[in-house]
Amino acid sequence: MSVLRLTCSPRGAASESLRLSRFILDGLARADARRGRDLVEIDANPLPHVDAEYAWALGSPADPDGDSAGSLRQSDHLIQSLVDADYVVIATPMHNYTVPSALKAWIDHVVRVRSTFTVTRAGKVGVLADKPVFVAVSSGGLFSGAEARQPDFLTPYLKAALATIGLKRLTFFSVEGTAMGGQALEAARLRARAEIDAYFTKAADTLVDAFVA
Ligand SMILES: Cc1cc2nc3c(=O)[nH]c(=O)nc-3n(C[C@H](O)[C@H](O)[C@H](O)COP(=O)(O)O)c2cc1C
Repeated sequence: MSVLRLTCSPRGAASESLRLSRFILDGLARADARRGRDLVEIDANPLPHVDAEYAWALGSPADPDGDSAGSLRQSDHLIQSLVDADYVVIATPMHNYTVPSALKAWIDHVVRVRSTFTVTRAGKVGVLADKPVFVAVSSGGLFSGAEARQPDFLTPYLKAALATIGLKRLTFFSVEGTAMGGQALEAARLRARAEIDAYFTKAADTLVDAFVA
């Protein structure tokens, strides 16, 4: 199985969302143990914003002729890695109630007219084959449940953006309250890990059946 992991935290190895994503990778390895794992890692942080040629191309009726360069080439590579993956794991912090700018830059590169979606009278239609996407989110405060005191634009935004290109099977796990003290963090980690373990124990057959005929 091929797994694409996209890491979006600027905190490198210290990242809480990266830590959480490891449990998802472990769960996938258990659920799909018959196949070896090919892990493709992309760090979204060095991705540049899209450039002028890219913006022109997306606003034009056709892509430019010839070899792609700049953001168009970057976009080609990022889209290909998405196409090649059986599973996608996105490790991301919440920044200002939504996705961090690094993840937004990746989205701008992969949500691309004529390549990953088409425009019809009924709206945008995704062209990628749907596949499981697991999102590991970490946040300083709480954004779900009765005690949440902040909005969550990350979850609905990511769902809408990836549905545009055909990816609708999103499953979210979160460690919330990383800024609320050591005890709260440890409890949130344990809760998230238990949720991930329960999910992969239950979903193993469904996941694997989708890929192993
Ligand atoms: C620029 C920035 C904005 C942030 N905005 C939020 C926010 O809106 N809500 C929240 O709960 N935490 C916010 N945080 C805290 C992070 O979500 C939190 O530290 C998280 O655990 C970081 O995950 P990471 O270790 O994977 O980067 C913000 C952190 C930064 C650096």
